[in-house]
Amino acid sequence: MYNFDKIIERQGTASVKWDLRKEIFKKEDVLPMWVADMDFETPDFIVDAVKERAFHPVYGYSLMEKSYYDAFISFTKRRHQWEIKQEWMVFSPGIVTAVNAAIKAFTKEGEGVIVQPPVYFPFFSAVKNNNRNLLENELIYIDNTYKFDFDDLRAKAKEAKLILLSSPHNPVSRCWTEDELKELGKICLENDVIIISDEIHADLILPGYKHRPLATISDELAEVCVTCMAPSKTFNVAGLFTSIIIIQNEKLREKYNKVMESISLVHGNIFGMIAAEAGYSKGDVWLDELMEYVNKNFEYVDDFLKKEIPSIKMVKAEATYLAWLNFKQTGLSDEVLHDKLINEANLGLSPGSIFGKGGEGFMRINLGTPIAYVKEAMEKLKIVFA
Ligand SMILES: Cc1ncc(COP(=O)(O)O)c(C=O)c1O
Repeated sequence: MYNFDKIIERQGTASVKWDLRKEIFKKEDVLPMWVADMDFETPDFIVDAVKERAFHPVYGYSLMEKSYYDAFISFTKRRHQWEIKQEWMVFSPGIVTAVNAAIKAFTKEGEGVIVQPPVYFPFFSAVKNNNRNLLENELIYIDNTYKFDFDDLRAKAKEAKLILLSSPHNPVSRCWTEDELKELGKICLENDVIIISDEIHADLILPGYKHRPLATISDELAEVCVTCMAPSKTFNVAGLFTSIIIIQNEKLREKYNKVMESISLVHGNIFGMIAAEAGYSKGDVWLDELMEYVNKNFEYVDDFLKKEIPSIKMVKAEATYLAWLNFKQTGLSDEVLHDKLINEANLGLSPGSIFGKGGEGFMRINLGTPIAYVKEAMEKLKIVFA
């Protein structure tokens, strides 16, 4: 029904991905497959809702209407079998904002915060910028996929107050299983570690996998869990900065709200709310079709690399639209690899090293884009690495 093949010109739209190429890659014409937003057009039901509101010529202070909350509550029940109460939902413009606020709210300077590299890099800065003690519980790379290192986690949890969980995981594309989340939760509960479960990619699940919100694992876990969700990745509206933080525990919610109030970050923007409500109430079909399309992109890349460039391997993909490519067999250093990708292949990817320990020798490529771009990217890689 929806056309994901359509190429939308994004240059000159103040797009970070397309219009910051010169600053980031020192080259204006690399094919940009880095920042995690998609090149597909925002679905019509969202564009229409935003347009309709835009036609009303007063953009004054706005409130979050019941219909906004209801749309999210119903979506989360339908898609994740999680029954949320409206009072558990609090606002944040972005998830990174919420992660920083949570660190301030639940820990003191010098206290330990666990991250699980290779992982979304703003987690590191959130810990460091707030002068907390960064504890790295590196994931284990085995059989072309990743798993948690529970022994190391057990040791680190003793020194920690908080863990930042990426679920599903960016960049390694894991959709953590119920058993894995149970074990992680058990260790956190035993050590009084609060869990910030960043589930921004929860709706971007590849066929055959199922996202499990951490807070649905048990009542005990729900009490120590802060879940971060948003329409930004799901419906490609990241520029509208509207996110939903779910905190069931009233005390934790009060602490979080206090930090947000202290910097007056409690009001959303009207277009973000309109877009979120439209997406959550009308987006199921679009979302299912999107993930079928993205899955074909993953399959294309995997097949292409196996046939044409066996020295590059795609890590097993379960979620997100971000593929994690292993370049280790090329034997090139990260510096040389990055230089070749930009200057010879003319491709703008995210170097694995920015995701911390274990990211060396990997590159992240954004497949939330029409297949024509994916094919072009593979041909570019072939010229340099085949
Ligand atoms: C795991 C994860 N968390 C958070 C974000 C960004 O969140 P926001 O733009 O809402 O701050 C991203 C974007 O790529 C992400 O992958």
